[in-house]
Amino acid sequence: MKKRKLKDIEVSEVGMGCMAFSHGYGKIPEESYSIEAIRNAYKHGCTFFDTAEVYSPNLAGIGHNEKIVGKALKDVRDDVVIATKLFLDRGLFSDTYRSIRRHLEGSLDRLKTDHVDIYYLHRMGSVPVEEVAEAMGRLIDEGLIKGWGLSQVDVDIIDRAQKVTPLTAVQNIYSMVERDSEESIIPYCIEHDIGFVPFSPIASGLLSGKITVDTQFERNDDVRNWVPQLSRRNIEGNQPIVEMLKRIAEEKNATPAQISLAWMLHKYPNVVPIPGSKNKERIIENLNASQVVLSDEEFVMLERELNSYKVYGHRGLGGF
Ligand SMILES: NC(=O)c1ccc[n+]([C@@H]2O[C@H](COP(=O)([O-])OP(=O)(O)OC[C@H]3O[C@@H](n4cnc5c(N)ncnc54)[C@H](OP(=O)(O)O)[C@@H]3O)[C@@H](O)[C@H]2O)c1
Repeated sequence: MKKRKLKDIEVSEVGMGCMAFSHGYGKIPEESYSIEAIRNAYKHGCTFFDTAEVYSPNLAGIGHNEKIVGKALKDVRDDVVIATKLFLDRGLFSDTYRSIRRHLEGSLDRLKTDHVDIYYLHRMGSVPVEEVAEAMGRLIDEGLIKGWGLSQVDVDIIDRAQKVTPLTAVQNIYSMVERDSEESIIPYCIEHDIGFVPFSPIASGLLSGKITVDTQFERNDDVRNWVPQLSRRNIEGNQPIVEMLKRIAEEKNATPAQISLAWMLHKYPNVVPIPGSKNKERIIENLNASQVVLSDEEFVMLERELNSYKVYGHRGLGGF
């Protein structure tokens, strides 16, 4: 697969979000299936894997997902880039560095590794970002992390952090139907050599064209029940975008999910999406978006089409 750089870290141009093996999209697979799915992705050329300490069934407990990722990748650790995330809460500690380091040591243990490649703060809490950035800088100097990032943040926070310890990547929600980051965040990242890692790049499945107003989401631990973009009304409202994608996908002998990923790869040089799936075949389908090349004319036409539709609903920021 083609490669891209997130600052100075080289990754496959499509990564893999591992969350759904533990949380967020209904029933989780057997651990052996998840491990095999991750290893298959690696064999297919994927070298960028995204997890977080909180990804556990129903977000109860810590580290379910990191343990799976650690087991799956331990034999190829030196050939892959692993990103994980932590939450911080000011109420629980006084020393930011020691607290982050304690979280990191837990992740290292579960991931069966001596370093994390990209360590993200999962959400801004009450700790000033400068303190987090300084602590991340120390961890980089100690060799415990190669780089660091922030998730779901605005330009002001990114800029304050960047001035203390330059960021490797920003991970925000971004897809054809969630384009707020285009205005100033992605341009800022390009200007400052920061990678941009879109989460939910297929809009939680909407842009695959497989979700209809009749789709029943699962009852347990399935974020699609509350993602506003996936309410019946909004699925219906967004159908013209999905139909347009289906049409272009057919013309290009690709799938709608692949077109939605190829579009962002064409649009920005610093973008590396991390689509999530708990299905082995769809994981490979998504990775193969790297082979779907849009011409400049096709890209311009896609942009024109996208700009002509109203988008109904946001994904919402409650998910992790
Ligand atoms: N930083 C944050 O706060 C944050 C928040 C959310 C997610 N994330 C990260 O981003 C990753 C991706 O986000 P996400 O999983 O929320 O959203 P996503 O990748 O946009 O969509 C995942 C959903 O789409 C379906 N899907 C994926 N590929 C498909 C395909 N080719 N055809 C049909 N359906 C397809 C999946 O179903 P199946 O499983 O059935 O294929 C799943 O229901 C996560 O794994 C996680 O690592 C980070």
